[in-house]
Amino acid sequence: MRITIHGATGRMGQSVARLASAEGARIVGAVASPSSKALGRDVGELAGAGTAGVEITADTASALLGADVVIDFATASALPRLVTLAARAKVAVVSGTTRLDEAGERALTEASKVVPVLWAPNTSVGVQVLAELVTLAAKKLGLGFDVEIVEAHHRAKIDAPSGTAERLRRAVDEARQDLRPVYGREGNVGPRKPEEIAVLALRGGDVIGDHTVHFLGAGERLELTHRATSRDLFARGALAAARFIRGRAPGRYTMVDVLGG
Ligand SMILES: NC(=O)c1ccc[n+]([C@@H]2O[C@H](COP(=O)([O-])OP(=O)(O)OC[C@H]3O[C@@H](n4cnc5c(N)ncnc54)[C@H](OP(=O)(O)O)[C@@H]3O)[C@@H](O)[C@H]2O)c1
Repeated sequence: MRITIHGATGRMGQSVARLASAEGARIVGAVASPSSKALGRDVGELAGAGTAGVEITADTASALLGADVVIDFATASALPRLVTLAARAKVAVVSGTTRLDEAGERALTEASKVVPVLWAPNTSVGVQVLAELVTLAAKKLGLGFDVEIVEAHHRAKIDAPSGTAERLRRAVDEARQDLRPVYGREGNVGPRKPEEIAVLALRGGDVIGDHTVHFLGAGERLELTHRATSRDLFARGALAAARFIRGRAPGRYTMVDVLGG
């Protein structure tokens, strides 16, 4: 499988570059932003994985040449252009970039008419299972339990709340359509309203990603938690997703498809 990494100089991009060959992938292209300090450097050397023979470039179209799949962990604003070029070059897309706006969503759907497209705000198996448990708990515990979501990430993360926290909120929503999100509380907010579901973000240190969904009832509470201890977990999931969608029919796919759920 030949891959291009979009966001190749970032934390996730480098993790994908380090794991690629062990996961049966050959890197044929590597993209960073036009202002990247790493343009012209070898993507494998930058990641500490030995020479890959592929220079990091800001020229996305040429980096896609010869690729089966592009794996994207970059920034939401760069996504529409990437997927438009990928569709034109008939390259499948796996994107783990979070906090997509409407333009990003639209671009993914447009591209999926031409190539297979998988977008996942969290590419770990554990989070997928957590999401299923959260829906089950929300359904079984019902209206008597208040639901709140807390996530923690490293100090360099630029968006909040995390894409995974939003994914978990949607998992609650599958069983509880009565809830409305609240993204923080301050001042005289009054007693908690039954229809609230707070999604709260902690930032600091080198936390890779922790998520807890709290179900708070009268006399008891249930907490469902996932903790990521290595970024490689997400990179492995993205490479598994790339193997899964390579050669498939055009359309939208999710991690549920990859995991056979
Ligand atoms: N789905 C998951 O499981 C998962 C897991 C972890 C993170 N994420 C998400 O993945 C994304 C990246 O996270 P990260 O921690 O790796 O971020 P990061 O370390 O800041 O890396 C961002 C990468 O994007 C590149 N980039 C920025 N603007 C670009 C542009 N216009 N065109 C092409 N490349 C561009 C950067 O290149 P230069 O700075 O060198 O120019 C860098 O390589 C975030 O949205 C994050 O939330 C998802």
